[in-house]
Amino acid sequence: MQRRNFLMNVAVGAGTLPWLASQARVFNDRLQQLATDVDAATGADDLWRRVRQEFALNPGFTHLNCGSVGATPRPVLDVVAATMREIEGNPAGKVFGWGGQQMEAVRERAAGFIGADLNEVALTRNTTEAMNAVAMGLDLEPGDQVLTTNHEHGGGMVCWQHLRKHHGIEIVYVHLPWTIESRQQIVDLVRQKLTARTKVCSFSHIDTITGVRMPIAEIAEITRPRDIVLVCDGAQAPGMLEVDVKELAADTYAFSGHKWMLAPKGTGLLYVRKEMQDRVHPAFLHDGYSGYTASGGTRDVATVVGHGATMDFHDAIGRDRIAARCRELNLYLRARMQDMPGLTLLTPPDDDLSAAIVSYSVDDGDAGAIAGRLNQEHEILVKRAQGTYAYSVEDGLPAESSNALRFSTHIFNSEGQIDRAVAAMRTILT
Ligand SMILES: Cc1ncc(COP(=O)(O)O)c(C=O)c1O
Repeated sequence: MQRRNFLMNVAVGAGTLPWLASQARVFNDRLQQLATDVDAATGADDLWRRVRQEFALNPGFTHLNCGSVGATPRPVLDVVAATMREIEGNPAGKVFGWGGQQMEAVRERAAGFIGADLNEVALTRNTTEAMNAVAMGLDLEPGDQVLTTNHEHGGGMVCWQHLRKHHGIEIVYVHLPWTIESRQQIVDLVRQKLTARTKVCSFSHIDTITGVRMPIAEIAEITRPRDIVLVCDGAQAPGMLEVDVKELAADTYAFSGHKWMLAPKGTGLLYVRKEMQDRVHPAFLHDGYSGYTASGGTRDVATVVGHGATMDFHDAIGRDRIAARCRELNLYLRARMQDMPGLTLLTPPDDDLSAAIVSYSVDDGDAGAIAGRLNQEHEILVKRAQGTYAYSVEDGLPAESSNALRFSTHIFNSEGQIDRAVAAMRTILT
């Protein structure tokens, strides 16, 4: 639901979750107030200061690692707490019938949020669970090849290693260079690695190490005519970017609510394109994609409701506005870091190749030690980005490590925080 529709819904008092009327009204009133204040803001500084008030981050702490987990806004935290209390008044009475309705509403909301149909979207606890489900739901034979890259996260990689160990599939790697010049460069590298045995291509939407935006739609143009299943690990994308799964054209798409979406921890989503559902059939979806099924089992209804509420939060501000702000802050950080000694930029500047993650390789010294000092001495959290997830001894590939620092910028950050982070980096590196 886009922002205009969100406001219309709130205005007529319908709310966006079929939730306890009084609580839903409190939540919707808070979002309505936020939307009104955002519209009335006298400029960008005023607007984003107002938005930052919605977060419960510790004073003085700078969170530049929402690529690991984001910060959940206060109105959503209150929705989760109230839902938990409601459930505990009559646990078995609430979790299934009532809880099932709530989760169905969230699923519907989530499908609309990523441009999918309701019967293509299942709730998960995170990206990893969704990627595992995809891999286990495929009928791969010994010798079938899964093409992936040397930059995948364990959460999108271990499922293929499991199939290799227990079902004899082969993993083939596209070796992504540290410097990416164009989307076409990546597409060409993928094309070169396709063989008659390639049955699956599995790529991140946003590279977890470098923040590179992978050309998923262009890759789909070469996988679909070859009947290859295109699996996309979108852990780092929704909430940072506006994602439309139909435009991306991947056959499956997995992401975590608790990263850029800012949803409660332990939330996620799996999309499986309708036409692919006979080829991708995980056991947990055997009884269908609904919130509660016999094959899916009992869920944490409160966090799922929180996931839905977070989508309302995004729409109250405006998804396009959030994506632009994440990017703006990231470009601000890049500009301030430009003359920093001892670092090599790993992230391309182009809008179509990156968004709100920027990573720097540390030329001398240990990126982990620098991240540790930023945290301990300056209360600034960044991620040490390692490039070793994809490799294991079985791969017979060189153990490559990026020794890099990854900075994620979101709407709860400010230019002032970035200035302090850059000053702290300068103190450590010079
Ligand atoms: C690309 C990618 N895939 C998967 C994951 C795992 O996410 P989760 O722990 O939420 O399953 C991450 C986490 O950083 C990631 O960056």
